[in-house]
Amino acid sequence: LFGSEEYRPQFHFTPEENWMNDPNGLLYHDGIYHIFYQYNPNGTKWGYISWGHAISTDLVHWKHLPIALECEVDPNGNVMEMFFSGSAVVDVNNTSGFAIPTGKAQKGKEILSQPMVAIYTSNYPTAHTASNGQVIQQGQQSQSIAFSNDNGLTWTKYKGNPVIPSPPPEYADQYNQFRDPFVFWHSPSSRWIMVASLAMKQTLLIYSSDNLKDWTWESQFGPYNATFGEWECPSLFPLYVDGNTAAEKWVLLIGINPGGVVAGSGTQSIIGSFDGKTFVADPSDVYDPTKVPVDSTVFQDFESTSSTFEELGWTATGDFVGSGPRNASTVNAGNIKGYLGNGIMTTCLLGGTGTGTIASPNFTIAKDYISFLIAGGYYPYNPATAGTPEDNQVSINLVVDGKIVRSQTGANTENLVWRSWNVAGWVGQEAYLIATDANSGPSAHLHIDEIVFSNSPKEEANWNDFGPDYYAAVTYNGLPTSERTAIGWMNNWAYANNIPTSTWRSAMSIPRTLALKTINNKIRLVQQPASSVSTLYTSTLYSHNFSVLHCGETQVNVPAPYNARMKLGLKFSRGTGTKFGVALRSNATNTQETVIGYDFLGQNVFVDRFKSGNNSFVDSDQNAFPGYFIATLPTKATDVIELNILLDWSSVEVFDGEGQIAITCQIFPVDDSAKVKLFSQGGSTKSVSVAINGINSVWK
Ligand code: FRU
Repeated sequence: LFGSEEYRPQFHFTPEENWMNDPNGLLYHDGIYHIFYQYNPNGTKWGYISWGHAISTDLVHWKHLPIALECEVDPNGNVMEMFFSGSAVVDVNNTSGFAIPTGKAQKGKEILSQPMVAIYTSNYPTAHTASNGQVIQQGQQSQSIAFSNDNGLTWTKYKGNPVIPSPPPEYADQYNQFRDPFVFWHSPSSRWIMVASLAMKQTLLIYSSDNLKDWTWESQFGPYNATFGEWECPSLFPLYVDGNTAAEKWVLLIGINPGGVVAGSGTQSIIGSFDGKTFVADPSDVYDPTKVPVDSTVFQDFESTSSTFEELGWTATGDFVGSGPRNASTVNAGNIKGYLGNGIMTTCLLGGTGTGTIASPNFTIAKDYISFLIAGGYYPYNPATAGTPEDNQVSINLVVDGKIVRSQTGANTENLVWRSWNVAGWVGQEAYLIATDANSGPSAHLHIDEIVFSNSPKEEANWNDFGPDYYAAVTYNGLPTSERTAIGWMNNWAYANNIPTSTWRSAMSIPRTLALKTINNKIRLVQQPASSVSTLYTSTLYSHNFSVLHCGETQVNVPAPYNARMKLGLKFSRGTGTKFGVALRSNATNTQETVIGYDFLGQNVFVDRFKSGNNSFVDSDQNAFPGYFIATLPTKATDVIELNILLDWSSVEVFDGEGQIAITCQIFPVDDSAKVKLFSQGGSTKSVSVAINGINSVWK
């Protein structure tokens, strides 16, 4: 029965029922791919977090298995332990001592099992003393282990848990933000390595162990590149450069939330080296925080004698009752350093103990990006006096046509850092900024500085995906380096709990094979759908070459059900047009459609999901779902550009031919949105070749 529900992905991994977030414990062993995942057995929103489990022989057909690690609730209904994200290994040499006799012998010697060991974060909502005597604080996050001698079907928690109760003394205050251990066997040093996150510090801690039980802290990494938000779910692994097994480099994938490339959750990658103790980023991968975007329009700033936001043309509502400089409506002059020609101030402080908003006058969006320096949120954050971080979050939002189209929440960052919003979809339109303090925490604080329009983003990170829906991506243990495979959660914390599916919530991305490739003299992390995905493709349903595709739309007939689940390959070259692409899941009146293509002027791949269907699940002040997402991909006039698109009912994943960029987006169109339309805009596109295959469902 499962598989026929509205919006149900047909070839992406989804739980049969209930809530899912991050992939965990990705492990290949004895011909079987295991996937564990953050799971709520009791509902379709986040909670009672447990590890779900499924297995596959090909990464596309999955068999669902019983819950591996189930949330612990005491007799009074208090949640005692949730099983947060982590990883899994096979302890081939029985370093842990968790093996058991198999009943078989070789040369008179007993053969032992090879235990599977899961390494996860114990999230303890309730203070208590564990049965082994360890004293657990409320909200503590610690690293724990469990083992299985039946290939992951049943698990035993180690009696000595947690094995890393707290971060090192210098980070003692981060006891409740320490999570997501990724563990792997490091052959050169013959020991286990763990990388775990100090989420609020944008710092990863690296540990080593001989037995998976006793861990030594070796080093730390970060903050680095994208730092605006919490760091979560790291993965550290080697890859070969251009397939050369003698040229190995190490790659870090890091989840960041909020502060992703679009808004909310995102994934960055960093290429470097790892010697068994320390990860060092390649110099070429450093983001220079002083770099001003190229071709930018920085507004003149001048010292203002204004002492209120109103004098600057801003409007304030609500009751900011903070003291002195934190009071929005009676800001003292020292906090308003400048005032932009078109009405945007260069420094804005907002906060206090009340709730409310301040809004800028209208201005016209001038270029593809708005970049700004931002700090604050709940800084200086003192858990003893300041309530929870959530109580103190303040955000700056961009409003176009009455809707918030971009939002950035302040974070506990001591320094000003750059953020960029891609606003290419609204150039020339009127907009305004609105800063909101939605909660009444006592130390809410927002600092916005140097608002800049530019043609390129502040280069703040190497994003692993430029869409809104690829998060907490981690990689498989147990595969050869040349087959390193990642899976991400195809969702975003900005709206994950509200997406309009009713019996289950969230899908995983397509599994992606990773590699390093030298492109234009720079080593890049590239990705492609795992090769087994192609076993689901039908024979070609449509293929055509147009020596010239003229300006306008060309409808392509793809039979149901494949008009909602297909693989679409496009190759094309620049003609006289400005954009080329395809509209998918388009309805009869063209009021719904998801538009994917290449912008020859902007030199980027784009996905437009403004009209992709149901957006109503997003509440009005957090309207992060609709959007136009781009990934810069420079090309020359003579280049053949290639895009490969996977459409699966309620998602699109777009890859360029080399796999340099990916854009992943959920969409929620009505069932009969099924037209496929090629288009060339602003003129013609040359040498267009189109190939469409249907994709078979993995549901029986
Ligand atoms: C990332 C995350 C992890 C945490 C898990 C809890 O999405 O916040 O940091 O372990 O989800 O479900």
